[in-house]
Amino acid sequence: MTTQRTAVVTGASSGIGEAAARTLAAAGYHVFVGARRLDRLEKLADEIGGTALELDVTDEDSVDAFTAVIPRVDVLVNNAGGAKGLAPIAEADLDDWQWMWETNVLGTLRITKALLPKLIESGDGLIVTITSVAALGPYDNGAGYTAAKHGQAMVHRTLRGELLGKPVRLTEIAPGAVETEFSLVRFHGDAEKAAKVYDGIDPLLADDIAEIIGFVASRPPHVNLDQIIVRPRDQGAVPGQFSRRS
Ligand SMILES: NC(=O)c1ccc[n+]([C@@H]2O[C@H](COP(=O)([O-])OP(=O)(O)OC[C@H]3O[C@@H](n4cnc5c(N)ncnc54)[C@H](OP(=O)(O)O)[C@@H]3O)[C@@H](O)[C@H]2O)c1
Repeated sequence: MTTQRTAVVTGASSGIGEAAARTLAAAGYHVFVGARRLDRLEKLADEIGGTALELDVTDEDSVDAFTAVIPRVDVLVNNAGGAKGLAPIAEADLDDWQWMWETNVLGTLRITKALLPKLIESGDGLIVTITSVAALGPYDNGAGYTAAKHGQAMVHRTLRGELLGKPVRLTEIAPGAVETEFSLVRFHGDAEKAAKVYDGIDPLLADDIAEIIGFVASRPPHVNLDQIIVRPRDQGAVPGQFSRRS
C-alpha cells in the first residue's frame, strides 16, 4: 500500500471540487480527481501531481471502475452535485428532479459505500460532504434541489452514528452562495441568468470552501467537526434573503 496520504475529490473539474483538490495537494495529499470532463481533470492533475479519472457518479459501472483503481483513501470529498432548474412544484420538471437525486443523493451514496472499507483501513479516515444551506430548510421554487440536498445530508449524517467506534470522521459543509459554474448548470447554460444570482453581492468563492476543507483535514484524529454552515456576509439565514448593492 502506498504510504502517501491520499484524497479523493468528486466533481473536481470545476468550482469547489477543483479548488479543494488544489488545497489538499498543497497539504501533501496525492489527490485522485474525478468528474465527467476528463480534459479539465487532466490539466488539474498535471498541475497538482495528482491522478485524473473519469467518473460519472450516476453510473454504477463508472463508480466501480473509479473506486477500484484507488489504492488508499484517507480523505473523501463528496462534492459532485448541483441543481437543475428553479421552478414551483406545480411546474416541476421530472428530468431535473431525477438528475438532482441521482447526482447528489445516489452519487454520494455510491461513492461513499464503495470507498468506506478503504477509509476505515486508513486508520484515520475523513469524509467531507458538500451539502448546502438547501439541506437546512425549504425555499420557494427550490424543492427539487432542497429535497436532494436533504437526502444527501441524511446519507452523510446517518453515517456519523453508524460509524461510531470506527476510525472515520465525518464533516458536512453547508455553503450558501458560492460563485462557480453552479448557476450556469442550474439555468441550463443561460449565462445571463446565472450572473444575475451574484449581482450586487460579494458571494463566497470556491477557495473559501477549499480552505475550510483544508482546515477540517488538518485537525487531529479525535476532533470531528460535524457541521459547518458558511454564507457570504451578504446572505441572510432566510433562504433567498440577500443584501444587494443597487
Ligand atoms: N455554488 C454554490 O452556490 C453551492 C452552494 C452550496 C452547495 N453547493 C454544492 O457544491 C458542490 C460543488 O458545486 P460547485 O458550486 O462547485 O458547482 P460546479 O462548478 O458546477 O461543479 C460541480 C462539479 O460536479 C461535477 N459533476 C456533476 N455531475 C456529475 C456526475 N454525474 N459525475 C461526476 N461529477 C459530476 C461537475 O463535473 P462534470 O460536469 O465534469 O462531471 C463539476 O466538477 C455541489 O454538490 C453543489 O450542490 C454549491
